[in-house]
Amino acid sequence: MRLLPLLCVVVAACASSAAVIKRADRNDRPVIGILAQEVFKPTSKRSSYIAASYIKYLESAGARVVPVMVNRSEEEYQQLFNSINGILFPGGGASLTTSGYARAAEIFYKLALEANSRGDYFPVWGTCLGMEKLMLMTSGKNLLSQTNTTALSLPLHFTLDGMSSRLFQDFPADLMTSLATEPLTENSHKWSILVQSFNKTEELTKFYKVLSVNTDGSNEFISTVEAYDYPVYATQWHPEKNAFEWRQPHYPHSPAAIKTTFYMANFFINEAKKNLHSFTSEEEERKALIYNYDSSYTGGSFEQVYYFA
Ligand SMILES: *[C@@H]1O[C@H](CO)[C@@H](O)[C@H](O)[C@H]1NC(C)=O
Ligand SMILES: *[C@@H]1O[C@H](CO)[C@@H](O)[C@H](O)[C@H]1NC(C)=O
Ligand SMILES: *[C@@H]1O[C@H](CO)[C@@H](O)[C@H](O)[C@H]1NC(C)=O
Repeated sequence: MRLLPLLCVVVAACASSAAVIKRADRNDRPVIGILAQEVFKPTSKRSSYIAASYIKYLESAGARVVPVMVNRSEEEYQQLFNSINGILFPGGGASLTTSGYARAAEIFYKLALEANSRGDYFPVWGTCLGMEKLMLMTSGKNLLSQTNTTALSLPLHFTLDGMSSRLFQDFPADLMTSLATEPLTENSHKWSILVQSFNKTEELTKFYKVLSVNTDGSNEFISTVEAYDYPVYATQWHPEKNAFEWRQPHYPHSPAAIKTTFYMANFFINEAKKNLHSFTSEEEERKALIYNYDSSYTGGSFEQVYYFA
């Protein structure tokens, strides 16, 4: 006589915990891939690298990072793609067409578009060179023009779309005012997508919403975009530098500049929390994490760098 009510309790408990699991569609343990790229003058111990600032940037918003090494097999990239929750294509100096960085970006971009089309939400971020690579992949054309933007910080000229974008809509109003009026966005690029080239390219205007533009004094270029139908985001500027790089006098470090770093990272990591990929085991996850490597203090243009053999 006692068994029956107990059974009902157990069944009810099971049913409700299944429902809880089903509703837990937020992944609070996101792992993000960052592409490595070839060093300019390789040695046997240092053939590729990731600047530590990109890693700290993502970690500061509650993610862990795995390095995505160059020149690995497509199968290895596919397996890694199925294990991570988003990917960042960093800035740097690699070739947009022939480098291992370019090849890995092409493979991950394609996998990301396919995944998103099937409802597997997978965010992609491009910073500086990463944005240039995204534009090249989306349009199939090299549309870059030279601009005088190698070492300066600028306020963003927001478009109307920028103010209502996914990326900026939850930024505090005072930070949006600072971003629009103070030089908080660091630019270190010789090449840009001019607004005029962007506008003429249907593959880009259909895919990306322009959130901000900037000018070098004579040429207006695209500085921030988000894709209309995909979680694909890009900045020609460097959100990670404000909090984590110190070598150049024009790097902004004001309270609003540091908040900019944090809110950008926070946005992207919250996007990654919508992805439910995971490593096949904890052991696989541990082996992949950047924690397995040590950074070097370079005294160069990046404070700290992770080098890979
Ligand atoms: C990766 O492959 C490219 C193209 O073959 C080559 O130029 C580059 O040196 C390789 N990079 C590394 C780190 O092995
Ligand atoms: C580039 O911009 C800087 C200011 O940021 C200016 O001093 C310099 O004259 C410009 N150079 C050219 C070639 O326009
Ligand atoms: C580019 O297109 C935007 C949006 O349609 C428009 O506001 C802007 O004036 C255009 N700029 C140029 C240089 O073509």
